[in-house]
Amino acid sequence: MENSGLTLWFTGLSGAGKTTISKGVASQLKVRGYRVEILDGDVVRTNLSQGLGFSKQDRDINVCRIGFVASLLSRNQVITIVAAISPFQDAREQVRQMHKNFVEVYVKASLEVCEQRDVKRLYALARAGKIPEFTGIDSPYEEPVNPEIVCDTQQESIAESITKVIKYLETREYIRAAAVSSEEPNFNAIYK
Ligand code: ADX
Repeated sequence: MENSGLTLWFTGLSGAGKTTISKGVASQLKVRGYRVEILDGDVVRTNLSQGLGFSKQDRDINVCRIGFVASLLSRNQVITIVAAISPFQDAREQVRQMHKNFVEVYVKASLEVCEQRDVKRLYALARAGKIPEFTGIDSPYEEPVNPEIVCDTQQESIAESITKVIKYLETREYIRAAAVSSEEPNFNAIYK
């Protein structure tokens, strides 16, 4: 199983923490020597999905394209990390079917909290009617039915979420467990 490639798919509302957690997970994996690629919705929409909007149809196309690229990368031993709202269950299920190894991570935070954070100032614009079909406001977000991992960013720190994902990958043997122990050797036991 180890190093056979996989796709880690982060889904959640805008502002839930997908990008931040995925970057943290990516850097830990890189330090351990894995090949990693991130496909982030905001970035993908400036190239691969340029010109697509936010209707259900366009989002499904976007998610399907990301899923396709992720499947190509992951089958070539790259750990592929996707961070996209991907609000529709059927599209997420479809991309899961394209993969051998697929781990869905629900980055969970309520609309109220994401709106309060409003990191990109988009919720305010959406409330003012300046961004139509905004996820959570006037476009739905369907919560994952059975995600492998839930990162509740209202309850846990970003560091805790990152550790949770890494531990899951270790437990399922997608990656090797970290060998380093921070414990002092017990000299009494050794020289007894
Ligand atoms: S998805 O629904 O197709 O998966 P994706 O993750 O690629 O969305 O892009 C979401 C990003 O686009 C948000 O983080 C936000 O910066 C921006 N955005 C612009 N308009 C919208 C909108 N109507 N709804 C959601 N996000 C939007």
